[in-house]
Amino acid sequence: MTNIGSYADRLTNFDWSLAERELGYRKGDPINIGWYCSDRICQLGMAEKKALIWEDFHGTSKTYTFGDLRVLSNTIASYLTGLGLAPGDRICLFLDRVPELYIGFLGILKMGGIAQPLFSAFGEDSLFTRLDNAKTAAVITQRKHVAKIRKILQQLPELRHIIVIDPDGPPLREREIGFRLDQAPRVENFAVHPTTAESPSVLHYTSGTTGQPKGAQHVHYSLISQYLTAKWVLDLRPDDLYWCNADPGWVTGTSYGIIGPWSNGVTQVVLDAGFSTERWYSLIQKHRITVWYSAPTAIRLLMREGTAVARKYNLSSLRHLCSVGEPLNAEAVLWSKEAYGLQFHDTYWQTETGSIVITNVPGMPIKPGSMGRPFPGITATVVDPKTFEPIESTATVGLIALRPGWPSMFRTYWNNRVTYEGKFKNGWYICGDRASLDVDGYFWFVGRDDDVINTGGHLVGPFEIESALLEHPAVAESAAIGKPDAVNMEVVKAFVALKPGFQPSDELDLEIMNFIRKKLSPLAMPQEIEFVKSLPKTRSGKIMRRVLRAQEWGEPIGDISTLEND
Ligand code: PRX
Repeated sequence: MTNIGSYADRLTNFDWSLAERELGYRKGDPINIGWYCSDRICQLGMAEKKALIWEDFHGTSKTYTFGDLRVLSNTIASYLTGLGLAPGDRICLFLDRVPELYIGFLGILKMGGIAQPLFSAFGEDSLFTRLDNAKTAAVITQRKHVAKIRKILQQLPELRHIIVIDPDGPPLREREIGFRLDQAPRVENFAVHPTTAESPSVLHYTSGTTGQPKGAQHVHYSLISQYLTAKWVLDLRPDDLYWCNADPGWVTGTSYGIIGPWSNGVTQVVLDAGFSTERWYSLIQKHRITVWYSAPTAIRLLMREGTAVARKYNLSSLRHLCSVGEPLNAEAVLWSKEAYGLQFHDTYWQTETGSIVITNVPGMPIKPGSMGRPFPGITATVVDPKTFEPIESTATVGLIALRPGWPSMFRTYWNNRVTYEGKFKNGWYICGDRASLDVDGYFWFVGRDDDVINTGGHLVGPFEIESALLEHPAVAESAAIGKPDAVNMEVVKAFVALKPGFQPSDELDLEIMNFIRKKLSPLAMPQEIEFVKSLPKTRSGKIMRRVLRAQEWGEPIGDISTLEND
């Protein structure tokens, strides 16, 4: 029996208040995600239960109970308050997947701060854009990442504290302060800030086609959706050993790498190391992992290694598999059945939606290649791109649209209300993805409706790459698109037109690559630069990336009536 039971019954009887009741929340009460993920679980008698089993690349391992989570997040919350940080301040987590990242996240929420997790591989430009936009008051980081912050510090007057969690070594500099969680006096009791449903909680930056990344701002009430989807879609149960592959720099790593499992009182494993088939399988075997939340790119990498490797390990503990971030191809679903005896269940959602909105819930027949059906409580459809009216006929491609109002929907883009409001049309939230619906109400993903590149499940905005390229003295104009890739689905390719006096060459190619490497995250790095004489543009001067993309994918170019005359 699954947690959700009958999907059909849940659909007819659904009300979000069911999750409120399970969490003991009543409208108007304080609600604080940090408290729900630690103190409440202890109050339920699980203080001694393992919350986090952490391992790093070298095999170092640490274990924390829910009691530890409670006290250590208090310790961080109290430390932050002592520094003069206040509720509503943006506090950035710029860390590898170390325990301080997970515990710090809860600590920030407990003192009323807004947690702003950023992927630690970000280069200085990517980091600057996000800290500047959020007017971030403090960054919690590791020594190895401090150099990047030092480079941009003078342009960030609002950044008051850089908290270094491993301070041993050369003296710290301006605005830097050392804090060792394992040596700090443990704070048994902390007055958790009484945040309420609409109090801001998390700020996640996500890329769009134009302009800089936007900060999707979430609130504490998002817990209601995250708790229930973790319970019904990931099917998390008290005895589970759960593993989520995602880094909390991205929304999957917070919604389902922190909030979902811990608000359900479930033990999770974190591996602070990159992809390795054998390491991953040995982790599953060693900890007897039962529920695994992964992503299509990782699954394709595992597929490439074949089923024989999987058979070398005892993976019989696995009982439920889910995937997110990119289209999960039918082959991957069929292969996982062969390799693990279980099918991956696709889940579709976005930074903005805060939780899973379309999915194959356990127990529902899977149609390989389809994303499944709406989670109960979510009204989802496919609308016409011009009228924004639902498309009645099945198999016609339109835009995925959701009726606003589920608990974890983002409340705004930080400092960018206009763009936020532009996402709503005719009473629908428009996701920006194309799909069709079949007669059984299953969604079939087609592609994005903009120029954003999805590489290995991570969204990369062309604007950031193009801006970095334009800073190079030889570059006159540039365009970044996704080109097909067998593993990552897409990788970044850049087209560059040079300024007069510069000639294309391998040396220049390398020089430009090295120039932008420091500025961007490794994921946003182009795999290839193609030098061109000029870029296709509309008459109003906008670069038509879709023309370049169609050429690259060997697809029809479509309507080019607005293309600039030569
Ligand atoms: O284009 C869709 C794709 O990833 C986008 C959301 O990315 P992000 O905000 O970074 O959040 C990723 C983790 C929730 C979507 O607009 N996407 C996400 N899940 C799927 C998907 N594309 C196809 N199938 C999915 N299951």
